[in-house]
Amino acid sequence: MELNRRTVIAGATAAGIAAGAGGTAHAAGGSRPVKELFGSLTDGTKVHRWSLANGGTRLKVLSYGGIVQALEISDRRGRYANVSLGFDNLADYVSSSPYFGALVGRYGNRLDKGRFTLDGRTYQLSVNDGENTLHGGAQGFDKRVWDVEPFVKGTDVGLYLRYTSADGEMGFPGTLRTKVTYTLTRHGDWRIDYEATTDRATVVNLTSHVYWNLAGESSGTVYDHQLAIEASRFTPVDAGLIPTGELARVAGTPFDFRRAKSVGEDIRVPHQQVLYGQGLDHNWVLDKGITSRPEHIATLRDPSSGRTLRIATNEPGLQFYSGNFLDGTLTGSGGSVYRQGDGLCLETQHFPDSPNQPAFPSTVLRPGRTYRTSTVHSFDV
Ligand code: BGC
Repeated sequence: MELNRRTVIAGATAAGIAAGAGGTAHAAGGSRPVKELFGSLTDGTKVHRWSLANGGTRLKVLSYGGIVQALEISDRRGRYANVSLGFDNLADYVSSSPYFGALVGRYGNRLDKGRFTLDGRTYQLSVNDGENTLHGGAQGFDKRVWDVEPFVKGTDVGLYLRYTSADGEMGFPGTLRTKVTYTLTRHGDWRIDYEATTDRATVVNLTSHVYWNLAGESSGTVYDHQLAIEASRFTPVDAGLIPTGELARVAGTPFDFRRAKSVGEDIRVPHQQVLYGQGLDHNWVLDKGITSRPEHIATLRDPSSGRTLRIATNEPGLQFYSGNFLDGTLTGSGGSVYRQGDGLCLETQHFPDSPNQPAFPSTVLRPGRTYRTSTVHSFDV
C-alpha cells in the first residue's frame, strides 16, 4: 500500500481496546455518543473514537476514515461480540488497512486504468491497484480525517461525518462536499445516509467497507455463514477485476445466491470468474434496481450464533467480497491473525467502472444536484 508521509503515525495507540463479549458499559437506550482520543497522526492531527449505543447495537467510529472500529451485537443467548474486523490502534489503520470498516470514496470500487472522460475531458486519477484506481485512489476518503458531530434526535442517536474533497484531489474534478450520517435507531438498526454536492461535474460512488463476521471477528472464516442476495445477474470482470460490461445471469453459476446458501459452498468451483477474484469479489446487479427508498436486498446469517444481518438500500448494486486477499499478515482487534475468508464485505453501490460503461446507471453528479443514497443494516437473532 502506498503511504503518504504526512500520515505516518507517531506511536499512537488506542485509549481502549475494542470490547469483545461483555465489553463496554453502555446505558440501555439512546445515550449521547461519547468521544475519546484514539491516536494522533504524525502531523499532530488528533483522531477520536466515538462510542454510541441504541436498541442493543453498539458502534465505535473513528474520525479517521469514518471507520467502524467495532460493531457489537448479541447472539440468541445475549452474548455480545464484535462482528466487524478491525484494529485496536491507529497506526495499523494508517499503514496497512484493507479498508476495514471505512467510508470509501470519492469513487468506491475500480475505475479502469484510473481514467474517465466527462463532458469531453479526460481525467487521470491516482492509480493504486495495478493499472487501475481502487476506492478513490491512494489517499481516498478512508484515509481522511472527517469532522464528526454527534446527535440525539427523538429515539435515534448518531453521528454526522463531514469531509470536503478539494477540486483535483486524487485527480477527480470538482470540490465535493460530503456528509455521511450514521444513525442507530431504537431497534438497533444501523443506517447510513450519504449526501454530496459539487461545484463542477464529477463522478461519485460512496460506500461502507465493513468486513462482517457474525460469529465475531477472530472466530475463523465466514464460509459457513448463509447468504442470500436478491440479484439474478452480476457483472463479470476481466483479470484486473474491471467489469466487461456484460450483465450475466447468475443461474447455474457460483454467483447464484437467490436462495440462501453458505458462502463457502461454491468458493472452490474452478469457474473463470472465481479464479479472477480468488474467490467471490463481484458486483451483483440487484433485481429491484435503483429505488427511491432503501429496499431489502440481502440477508447474512451465522447459524452457530443465530446472528442475522439484513441489508436494505436504494442503490442498484452490491459488491460482495469474500475477504480473499486477507493473507495472514494482519493482526485484528481481538488479537488474532486474519486469514483468507475471515470476514466478508457487502458494499452497496453503483456498479464498478460506471464512468467508462455507458450502459451502466450513471454516477455523474452535477452542480445544483445532491447525491443521496441510503443503506440500512438490521440485526436479529
Ligand atoms: C474489493 C476487493 C479489494 C478490497 C480491498 C473490495 O471492495 O472488491 O477487490 O481487494 O476491497 O480491501
